[in-house]
Amino acid sequence: MYYICITGSGEFLEREELKKLAAEKAVEQIKDGMIIGLGTGSTMKYTLKKLGELVRKGLKIQGIATSVNTKHIAQEEGISLTTIDEHPEIDITIDGADEVDGSLNLIKGGGGALTREKIIAYNSKKVVIVVDDSKIVKALGIDFPLPVEVIKFGWTSTKKALESFGCEVVRREIIQGEPFITDNGNYILDCDFEHIPEPEQLEKDINNIPGVVENGLFINLAHQVIVGGKQGIITLDKEKTVL
Ligand code: 5RP
Repeated sequence: MYYICITGSGEFLEREELKKLAAEKAVEQIKDGMIIGLGTGSTMKYTLKKLGELVRKGLKIQGIATSVNTKHIAQEEGISLTTIDEHPEIDITIDGADEVDGSLNLIKGGGGALTREKIIAYNSKKVVIVVDDSKIVKALGIDFPLPVEVIKFGWTSTKKALESFGCEVVRREIIQGEPFITDNGNYILDCDFEHIPEPEQLEKDINNIPGVVENGLFINLAHQVIVGGKQGIITLDKEKTVL
């Protein structure tokens, strides 16, 4: 059960504009003194820029970056950073997603930061996801392969074990022949399931394979999804949470 609130005009907005709308809307929830989990990706960049603007006007916050890339952007924006070890209780996390289903379950990891993102989301009182409307899907896995972070040792065997779930698996590459390496020094295996009927079970099954660090299924972690659409902003709330 979730609650929907629609605001905004009906005029056409380009994709980047839709991301920006959602990303900036989320920042309205940020208050002085908060510890904020800072997600990764092109939508999050707009959140970070907006937070930077507010910090320059006097907002006092501390962020925890989910990737080296986000850390650099936050530093450029003048956002103070801390770590989850110093601040294990995170007030709110804002992050993007690659797919969102009707239960607000997600696929994440398009930017390869899924392990740190999941740790931060798991330890947050509230998780707000910011997306444009192209990310809303009927079933997870329809449009986007599931990213799985695996250690380098034995990765071809880990790949075979993943293939036994009936998906096509490719190691992510930056350019041909050059593997993408995560901030944790691992590979990403992108698993193409045409759709994922039981994401909750699959999340657990994949994480049981030796060599898997974490997978991009985020089940029951998002409290709210803010969607930038051509009709304006739609806010989907899993349940009412009080900050
Ligand atoms: C990074 C992620 C991103 O949040 C996700 O890929 C969405 O990115 P974008 O906003 O660029 O579409 O999970 O690991």
